[in-house]
Amino acid sequence: MSLALDAAAQDLLFREAQTANTFTDEPVTDEQVQAIYDLVKFAPTAFNQSPLRITMVRSEYARKRLVEHAMGANGPKTLAAPLTVILSVDLDFHERLPQLFPHAPGIKDTFFSEAAVREAAGTQNATLQAGYFILGIRAAGLAAGPMTGFDFTAIDKEFFGDGKQKSFLVINIGKPGTDAFFPRSPRLAFDEAVATV
Ligand SMILES: Cc1cc2nc3c(=O)[nH]c(=O)nc-3n(C[C@H](O)[C@H](O)[C@H](O)COP(=O)(O)O)c2cc1C
Repeated sequence: MSLALDAAAQDLLFREAQTANTFTDEPVTDEQVQAIYDLVKFAPTAFNQSPLRITMVRSEYARKRLVEHAMGANGPKTLAAPLTVILSVDLDFHERLPQLFPHAPGIKDTFFSEAAVREAAGTQNATLQAGYFILGIRAAGLAAGPMTGFDFTAIDKEFFGDGKQKSFLVINIGKPGTDAFFPRSPRLAFDEAVATV
């Protein structure tokens, strides 16, 4: 009764959605990814900085270059997924602020002239966008397999040689396959995670 979202959508996005480890062969199209992006681009970020960049890994060659830097089971899982994306932070996101925050274009220089400040803010806000992106994948009727078990420094050298993009998450995307899900692990109860001050 407290939620505005209908029960089927609650299940699709949260209760029945799980991290997928296997996928069917059904392709994930560019149109599906665009539909997901066009939903999740509305996620809030500080000063609307929108630092997340998404790199689709489609070709066999690109996929092999990516899994060179995977740890353990993440390699075979990624080779078998219909689509894999690399999420990264644009460390020069401030160059877009006059476009994205047009009512205060000076913020580009007043707040974000230092690279260290941009990296901290960009990482925080891109990570927030990544959570929305996972929800968007679920909203498209697909499953996500997010992974940090990669050598991201090596991925950056491999795919983003100019040092302006810093990867932080790889996500396999597709329709869940056979035995796709591990048993659901417990979550913290409301009282364990939420306090009132
Ligand atoms: C940021 C992040 C990093 C993760 N890294 C890995 C990983 O490297 N390999 C892996 O198999 N699963 C990885 N996972 C999957 C988590 O273990 C999984 O989402 C969590 O246990 C919840 O599972 P559930 O969605 O089935 O409830 C990662 C998930 C997130 C959100």
